Amino acid sequence: MVKLSDVNSKLLKARYAVRGKIVARAQELEGQGRKVIYCNIGNPQALKQKPLTFIRQVLSLLEYPELLNSPEAAKLYPADLIARAKMIMGLNPNGTGAYTQSAGIPFIRQAVADFIQKRDGIPADHNRILLTDGASKGVQAVFTMLTNKENDGYMIPIPQYPLYSATIELYGAKQVNYFLDEANNWQLNEHELVRSIEEARKNGINPVAIAVINPGNPTGAVLSKENIRMVIRFAKANNLAIMADEVYQENVYAAGLKFHSFAQVMHELGEKEVTLFSFHSVSKGFLGECGHRGGYMEIRNMPDDVYGEMIKLQSIGLCSNVDGQLVTYLMVAPPQPGDASYELYASERGAILGDLKEKAEILGRGISAIEGMHAQVPQGAMYAFVRFDLPHAKGIDPEAMTSDERLKYEAARDSKYCLRLLEDTGICVVPGSGFGQQPGTLHFRTTFLPPKDDIKTLVEKMKKFHTAYVEKIKSAC
Ligand SMILES: Cc1ncc(COP(=O)(O)O)c(C=O)c1O
Repeated sequence: MVKLSDVNSKLLKARYAVRGKIVARAQELEGQGRKVIYCNIGNPQALKQKPLTFIRQVLSLLEYPELLNSPEAAKLYPADLIARAKMIMGLNPNGTGAYTQSAGIPFIRQAVADFIQKRDGIPADHNRILLTDGASKGVQAVFTMLTNKENDGYMIPIPQYPLYSATIELYGAKQVNYFLDEANNWQLNEHELVRSIEEARKNGINPVAIAVINPGNPTGAVLSKENIRMVIRFAKANNLAIMADEVYQENVYAAGLKFHSFAQVMHELGEKEVTLFSFHSVSKGFLGECGHRGGYMEIRNMPDDVYGEMIKLQSIGLCSNVDGQLVTYLMVAPPQPGDASYELYASERGAILGDLKEKAEILGRGISAIEGMHAQVPQGAMYAFVRFDLPHAKGIDPEAMTSDERLKYEAARDSKYCLRLLEDTGICVVPGSGFGQQPGTLHFRTTFLPPKDDIKTLVEKMKKFHTAYVEKIKSAC
């Protein structure tokens, strides 16, 4: 039998906080009949968000084409969706059970290119688009492609989404942290990027790419165009590829803010040398189709021979799942005004995004009113990264610790806090140390996906809990 000591040590070392120990405990409590408010993961449909009707209608026809022969079909399905399903079957005659081309079904890749062209007003090449099993697989493909030498490193934001740190660990690459600027709405800071890359080089690391998450997970921040320009210039000056994780591009709530894609800003700058990988997904936005595992990666500024290697890599896994490809198609080519299915689609989309915006405000305002907690109303995405203050127990001086000791001390504190929060209130959030945080600060990440009433309950319970937790530490001092 395989023993733990036989397991790849890189896998043993990898951490993925959003599904860690605290979540396992939450499931245990739920099994004992406790109500748990799951705020640990951006999985909208697990938190009662309804799937868009038109997506499920088209998928049902594609999965069971015999339905089209039923006299009931015309009653059950809007005419444009029946026509759409027939069109898809014509363009993908082998159906959902057959492998597709490795990069994905050609007409869907063209539809993605059209979507980018329309979104950004820039040209897009279907021959640089690959359909992937969610954005995760696209991100991992880039790590596979670019990790070449032992000292190759990736600049990643801190705090980050742990897909990045875990994959770096798995691939034996080097993690190069750059801190996001909490005081400046979690934007990137040029001095910090320079500090980070210089320190990495001093330590013998060869940074090959920089990852940027916009809108941010876990920060909920939306990057300004100027900030994106700065990152592109920085990447060029340092010969880095850019990995632009844009899975939350539809999730922008703050008035006056807009999502700017790296592709569009790069085009505006006339940049033709920096390789850009952009990722999008069906899991977020207003679709929330996490389980369908669909998404795409768009690549810019890559010669044909290198692109050929990426296709080879995809072909080693044959192709991404076909339902995921189809949902990606429906995401980039939704019903249009005048289509029979349009009104329902638009009203469902509006309701989901409106609800998320409202919940972001309830959460951000509620939490920032709690003494000792700091958060803004999230500008986008599905999360708030909340900073909280705790007094130190008697005799503990973090300033006297080594940086390693301090990291461990702070990770133990935020984990203990989140576990206690779960035990006392049923609220399941993720400790900040799972995403990374500035030394000397403590955070947790919470989503604002649960129903509105649960978010209100969360704010109330959080206030009581935090006050009592701090009092308890103080009284022990
Ligand atoms: C920033 C970010 N990138 C990628 C992903 C992975 O998404 P997917 O379901 O498309 O693999 C997530 C999921 O939460 C995410 O937050």
